[in-house]
Amino acid sequence: MLAAMNGRHGAHRWILAGAAALLTAGTASGAPDIELGRYLSNECVTCHRGGTARSTIPNIYGLAEGAFAEVLKAYRDKRLNNAVMQNIASRLKDEEIAALAAYFARTKRP
Ligand code: HEC
Repeated sequence: MLAAMNGRHGAHRWILAGAAALLTAGTASGAPDIELGRYLSNECVTCHRGGTARSTIPNIYGLAEGAFAEVLKAYRDKRLNNAVMQNIASRLKDEEIAALAAYFARTKRP
């Protein structure tokens, strides 16, 4: 029972890592660097901190990793329209986006 559950969990993590690797294809292989994500997130939480009255700024904690990366790339490619996020995303490399996605997906809103 327990072994079976662990097995499923392991497979799930493997799929996530595989998706992240696909999203960052062409850059570093392997799992995204969560510590890098934590470091880069300092800039983001200035605006995206939870529990404030600044309700125009969306929550980005706990977003699905793949969706998070896709949104940032959409801002970077100017497919999504927001000057602030376009500017921020334009400075991020694929592996930094993957690291941020991995960090925020695993982090609860403070
Ligand atoms: C100066 C304030 C500010 C900073 C700094 C900032 N953001 Fe944002 N972010 C916003 C605003 C405002 C929006 C909503 C834009 C819109 O409505 O299209 C947003 C939207 C987003 C979204 C889309 C969320 C959704 O559900 O649509 C993501 C993901 C995101 N930001 C990630 C980040 C990351 C990662 C960083 C740090 C690298 C960051 N942001 C830094 C203001 C900021």
